[in-house]
Amino acid sequence: MGFPKDFFWGASSSAYQIEGASATDGKGPSVQDVKTIPAGTPDFTVCSGHYERYADDVELFAELGLKAYRFSIAWTRIIPNGVGEVNQAGVDFYNNLIDALRAKNIEPIVTVYHFDLPAALQEKGGWASRETVDAFVEYSRTCFELFGDRVTYWQTINEQNMMTLVPEHVVGGALDDYPLYQANHHMFVAQSKAMAVCHEVRPECRIGPAPNIAIHNPASSDPKDVLAAQYADAVRNWLYLDAAVFGEYNALALDYIKHSGYTIDITDEDRQVMKNGKPDFIAFNYYNTDTVGYVAGEVLVDEQGNIHGPGARVDNPSLGKTQFSGWWIDPVGFRTTLQEIHSRYRLPLIVTENGLGERDELIDGEVDDQYRIDYLRDHISQMEAAIDSGVPVFGYNPWSVMDLISTHEGFLKRYGFIYVNRTNDDELDLARIKKKSFGWYRKVIETNGADLA
Ligand code: BG6
Repeated sequence: MGFPKDFFWGASSSAYQIEGASATDGKGPSVQDVKTIPAGTPDFTVCSGHYERYADDVELFAELGLKAYRFSIAWTRIIPNGVGEVNQAGVDFYNNLIDALRAKNIEPIVTVYHFDLPAALQEKGGWASRETVDAFVEYSRTCFELFGDRVTYWQTINEQNMMTLVPEHVVGGALDDYPLYQANHHMFVAQSKAMAVCHEVRPECRIGPAPNIAIHNPASSDPKDVLAAQYADAVRNWLYLDAAVFGEYNALALDYIKHSGYTIDITDEDRQVMKNGKPDFIAFNYYNTDTVGYVAGEVLVDEQGNIHGPGARVDNPSLGKTQFSGWWIDPVGFRTTLQEIHSRYRLPLIVTENGLGERDELIDGEVDDQYRIDYLRDHISQMEAAIDSGVPVFGYNPWSVMDLISTHEGFLKRYGFIYVNRTNDDELDLARIKKKSFGWYRKVIETNGADLA
């Protein structure tokens, strides 16, 4: 069977990690711009220099043969303070980018919000405040109105689950007393409202959530390990997709939240709003599976010893690890994840991130990233197997189109098909250099996935 005709072979990025120009042309600060930067990594003033070089970059994307490009809009480029006046220079930038992509027949697949909440909103409580819900909905409406004539495919919030599970990524450390699951709930409400607004403002557009989804393997066939893995899936995966697709809380996740001592104020109006906003597809990011088991003292249990939470992470002797981060490499887990999402939700699927971050080296003007080719090939093969088994996947957008600032390690950890000539300490000339994987991916796209060699 193979890949469908018109499959969106793409690549991915996010505004705060690729653009730079973080205080240029009226852009306001986001939480990324004001957070404490990890020692040895750069701030976001330059990144890959894409803001100035977008036109040349799009030429390269076209040479790569991309059919789609998944990127995000920086909220504070459009609305610098999170609410209020629209910044025309920011609008111009995205108009130009979208038009350049369209001129090359590259489908823009746009994330409204990728980890870069306006700092002005964070100061007023961020997602813990319902004001941020209204701000997000208005900002989303502005995006649909401004760009929805040329952008058909939208995602609401990138990796809401990671923002809740590892919040220090985005809210920069000030987590004492942060009402984590109330803030998470506000994102659900905001997302549902934004999906409804998208359908109202632009009925021809398509919109969906973009969590990071990965199946948990039980450490063994011991029923306690299986139960602990079921809770892990509920808390990391299904909570987010049940809310987006069914407008409901996943029961096991809610059980975990309550037993963890969190309270959530869910109003009748919230319940109605969550039922009203429906996605047209599911976008999701996939990097690795995890394996979890029942480890006494590390798993939430009640007085009777009954499990109410995710298992503890354990090693998986069947899998290898990435060199840089020690993340499990699990292409078959990618297929399992695709198939499980399909059997639960029956919506079209698009992969908005998948990839390998490594310490690429530029030697004599070339980057031999065979390890990335091997990683992507194995994942694409398993995606094809999922499609052959009946899963409707309509696109694949590896992370990342070019090197950009990783969430922790800056430019030490690179994911791109295009090398960006800079280090963490030195911006050098930001030259773009095609890696070995560039030529390989171009051939994959040209042959619609038939030639993965
Ligand atoms: C995803 C994010 O979690 O993973 C990206 O959406 C991120 O923003 C990517 O860069 C890779 O993670 P990292 O930590 O290696 O940059």
